[in-house]
Amino acid sequence: MKKVITYGTYDLFHEGHANLLRRAKALGDYLIVGVTTDNFDLERGKMNTCDNVMQRIEAVKASGYADQIIIEEYKGQKIDDIQRYGVDIFAIGSDWEGYFDYLKEYCEVVYLPRTEGISSTQLRAERPNVRIGLIGTGSIARRFVPEAAFVSGNTVTAAYNPDFSAAEAFCREFGLPLAARTKEELFAACDAVYIASPHYTHYDYAKAALDAGKHVLCETPLVLKRGEAEDLYARADRAEKVLMMAHKTAYCPAFGHLVSMLKSGVIGEIVEVNASVTTLTDEDSEKMDSRRFGGSMSENACFPLLPVFKFLGTDWKDLVFYSKMKRGVDIYTKAVFLYEGAVASFQVGLGAKSEGNMVISGTKGYAYVPAPWWKTDYFELRFEDQNLNKKFFYPFAGEGLRYEIKDFISTVLNRDYLSYRLSRKEILSMCEVQERYMNGERLFLL
Ligand code: CTP
Repeated sequence: MKKVITYGTYDLFHEGHANLLRRAKALGDYLIVGVTTDNFDLERGKMNTCDNVMQRIEAVKASGYADQIIIEEYKGQKIDDIQRYGVDIFAIGSDWEGYFDYLKEYCEVVYLPRTEGISSTQLRAERPNVRIGLIGTGSIARRFVPEAAFVSGNTVTAAYNPDFSAAEAFCREFGLPLAARTKEELFAACDAVYIASPHYTHYDYAKAALDAGKHVLCETPLVLKRGEAEDLYARADRAEKVLMMAHKTAYCPAFGHLVSMLKSGVIGEIVEVNASVTTLTDEDSEKMDSRRFGGSMSENACFPLLPVFKFLGTDWKDLVFYSKMKRGVDIYTKAVFLYEGAVASFQVGLGAKSEGNMVISGTKGYAYVPAPWWKTDYFELRFEDQNLNKKFFYPFAGEGLRYEIKDFISTVLNRDYLSYRLSRKEILSMCEVQERYMNGERLFLL
């Protein structure tokens, strides 16, 4: 029996895919089709697929050409598969001509004619597009625009800043069609807003945007009071709009994999989470302005709170803060959570520097993520027996914002909210921690 294998993403399954599978099947008696996983596509920089892996597998199955469907999840897997399944022919479209010649060492390689005039890329471009308006034109917005260009299904159409000349200069620089003079003008020109303004303004902007029927992606911290966050979610639910907190760590491939791996028990029961984020900042910066609710907690705490809640949940028994203050803001804060059977702590600083790594300790071993762990592209699992230690590498493309933008756009378009990456409960708890801190609950000054 002659076995043929072929691979693809098969996003928005089209006639070109069907033709290719038919031709591949005709080369032999048995066709194996490898479909890429969502994570593998993300890792190789394919950020724009519309269908998830299950939908893509179903589409290949429905074509009726595949005798067997496998998933492709790592680079170099083709060589393993060819040997494992005893494959005679590797077939792929002619757009890959020459690229897979290295497989000739293992089997025959055939490049099949590609169907002209159709591709997933083209179909994706014809799909609905989310028009994004920016609120705030500071440093994070500057990073957002080029990152959004990596994600299909969106166009940044407008920007608003109460200082109109800043909005105008921003739009000119990034080639955005509209510098809005008012929030209303911005809302009229978009389907969704990205809020990148100072955090004390988040609540009012998010409320206005949701009430105007816009989806909202809001920078961290969403708001600094739990009640305000609850109110925003109630408004989002009423308007049937998406409200998401932008958090680049929560959506990046490495962190997602770390969470699922540790949850599966590889380091045993988790007994401690410790993470730190310190970014030395100029004393005159807005981030250090007490009138604008600046400080280390409001600026940085959403990052370490993510692993604390992911690994230990949100039902802490006690929470204590230790802060060093200057000119009315915390330049350094350590927070300690007591959980049933575990402890967590984090350090955040704008005016003091610390090692920015993360360690998650378990009864069988620990996970070590070097600084800056919040832009995770690498982590290690370490054990008493060093032979068992393992290193894991992932991409963290560009500024990392493209991962959260991708999830936001697909949530808006498909309404299949991937809440496991950052759940509503976790976000509400983050706001609650900020609120407790601002109220001075269990706060000790250094
Ligand atoms: N293919 C083809 N004819 C097309 C499109 C794709 O023969 N018009 C083939 C590819 O050469 C490959 C397989 O179908 O062997 C799966 O390709 P995939 O990358 O999933 O499809 P594309 O439509 O090319 O996707 P994209 O536009 O995202 O690159």
